[in-house]
Amino acid sequence: MPALDLAQEELGYLTPEAMSEVAEALQLDPGYVEGVATFYSLFHHEPIGKHRFYVCTNLSCMLRGASGIVDHVKQAIGVERSDQVSADGLFSFEEVECLGACEYAPMMRLDHRYHYDLTNESVDKLIAEIRSPSTPDSVPSPLTPALSPKGERVRKARPTRKKANG
Ligand code: FES
Repeated sequence: MPALDLAQEELGYLTPEAMSEVAEALQLDPGYVEGVATFYSLFHHEPIGKHRFYVCTNLSCMLRGASGIVDHVKQAIGVERSDQVSADGLFSFEEVECLGACEYAPMMRLDHRYHYDLTNESVDKLIAEIRSPSTPDSVPSPLTPALSPKGERVRKARPTRKKANG
């Protein structure tokens, strides 16, 4: 799944070629990789916005105003449905089931980060931060590989492990 996530992050969605490449790289059956990619709703097979809002609309979030947050996200990015992308190609959204952070309802995931206790103003602020030219285009996620200025992947130094005695 992390490999599929990386491919999706790079391409914006999973193409058949990307899934085949993941299968080949991990020496897995292509049918198995496709099965995983089509089972989970976090993988997309059509182009989506570069940044995607995953707004939780399960019980706790719904009781604390999630439907208003969904309406506000749709209005703010200028789409009606989850299969649409904002005119600038930057945003799309979808409603998702519980993300396991009910105590911070209403909440959502934007790309790989969780955002809690949402208000219309906090949603606007997130959108403005991404659209602002003074803000880096994307915040690196734990899955984003570090790249050198030449675009080569930089390996992170790993802490050395202490050998167990006896
Ligand atoms: S109901 Fe929204 S995080 Fe659980």
